[in-house]
Amino acid sequence: MNADLLRSYLEFYQDLGIRTLYRQVAPQAGTTLAPVALEAPPLPPMVPSNDSLLQILEDIGDCRRCRLHEGRTQIVFGVGNEHSPLVFVGEGPGADEDAQGIPFVGRAGQLLTQMIENTAKKEGIPLQREDVYICNVVKCRPPGNRTPEPDEMEVCGQFLYRQLMTINPKAICALGGTAARALTGHKEGVTKLRGKWLKWKDIPVMVTYHPSYLLRAYNQSAKREAWEDLKRLLHFVYD
Ligand code: URA
Repeated sequence: MNADLLRSYLEFYQDLGIRTLYRQVAPQAGTTLAPVALEAPPLPPMVPSNDSLLQILEDIGDCRRCRLHEGRTQIVFGVGNEHSPLVFVGEGPGADEDAQGIPFVGRAGQLLTQMIENTAKKEGIPLQREDVYICNVVKCRPPGNRTPEPDEMEVCGQFLYRQLMTINPKAICALGGTAARALTGHKEGVTKLRGKWLKWKDIPVMVTYHPSYLLRAYNQSAKREAWEDLKRLLHFVYD
């Protein structure tokens, strides 16, 4: 790899906020990838010009780039319409998602489905869950559903970046504070950020509450706010 090409890779990864690079060192089971000095050719392609969700999935492979692989059953890549003008991004798979390999299929996922479909119906927008695309910041379940660590989000972020670049939606919905931070870099809590239009690159991002938060019974006003956020988002995308 020549120096110019290497420099362009490094600038690209810096733009993504990635500060540690990993190289596949051995194909043996149980091998964790170690950060290494950059030498030829340690990096995956930046974003291949003909990138596709299938290609990204293939590049993720049997990923062991961070410690989250240790406790996962399977990688939870994403689900839905890859040409959707709307992408929902959550935090990371929970137990049900880890078991089924599909994002947002547990209780929080069922609430998300209801929120999407009921709001759309009420607003006269013909939309089902399968019409949108749904994925997470990290693709492997964090142990005990803990919040993903910054280095885990950084490593997995390159794949979310490529998913979003490939789908190129009209808008993105960040579900909860972790997704909002990962996508927009804003550090404020979700109560401050919700209902606002932020940006991922040039794409508008609407931040709203994570459905798991809304499942807690005492959050009636948060539920109302989340429905308001979704209403604005759906009208922006589908009107
Ligand atoms: N919570 C998330 O953030 N993502 C899922 O896929 C499920 C629950």
